[in-house]
Amino acid sequence: MGKFEQIKGFIFDLDGVIANTSVYHAKAWHQLADKVGVSWTTDLANQLKGVGRMDSLNLILKSGNKENDYSDEQKASLAEEKNDNYLQLLKSLDKSEILPGMEKFIEDLSAHNYLISLASSSKNSPRVLEALDLNKYFDARVDPATLKHGKPDPEIYVRGAQVLNLKPEECIGLEDAVAGITSINGAGEISVGIGDPEILNEADINFKDTSEVTLENIESAMKRKLNV
Ligand code: G6P
Ligand code: MG
Repeated sequence: MGKFEQIKGFIFDLDGVIANTSVYHAKAWHQLADKVGVSWTTDLANQLKGVGRMDSLNLILKSGNKENDYSDEQKASLAEEKNDNYLQLLKSLDKSEILPGMEKFIEDLSAHNYLISLASSSKNSPRVLEALDLNKYFDARVDPATLKHGKPDPEIYVRGAQVLNLKPEECIGLEDAVAGITSINGAGEISVGIGDPEILNEADINFKDTSEVTLENIESAMKRKLNV
């Protein structure tokens, strides 16, 4: 892990890091799992976090040994149904769904002239950022529709640094999902895991919730880790 002083940019996941929307994704997938007769477990919910729409559907079907039960066309329509469920749940989305401390943290980064990009797998992320009125803080966004591979592949976090014209070692990525931490680590950036440290045990730094995520806490966690 490099030094805090080297850091020039922050790359954000959205759902479960900035916005309280991962619970809505989970709810919408749960509805879909019920429909196809796959039992919903905490383990399955954790596996789906951060994973793109089609990959998520495939994981659900696989967990119920149903991966061969649907044609591509049927799968596309199941994925669309999940998205409709999700959009329904997003209808009342507003600033109150910004996770504790995150607007202040992003504002602080901006005030300290750090560059900020978005590395969300969600095709709904522009809509969510807009509803939360946070677009103004982002210098760049990775469009998930342009990716060859989704999280846990490093591609999205590699691009998250490129769109800021930064090297990976100049960036910190923030994630609530195991797949996302794997992606950040694979990209050669510093990973900050937000959530259960036993689940996010591959992260360089852990915070148990978003209210702990501040520049000062990141700086001291990095210094502690490097023993400086
Ligand atoms: C995020 C969420 C996942 C979601 C994925 C795709 O990474 O954490 O739960 O499946 O985006 O989202 P979309 O809105 O494009 O279906
Ligand atoms: Mg997430």
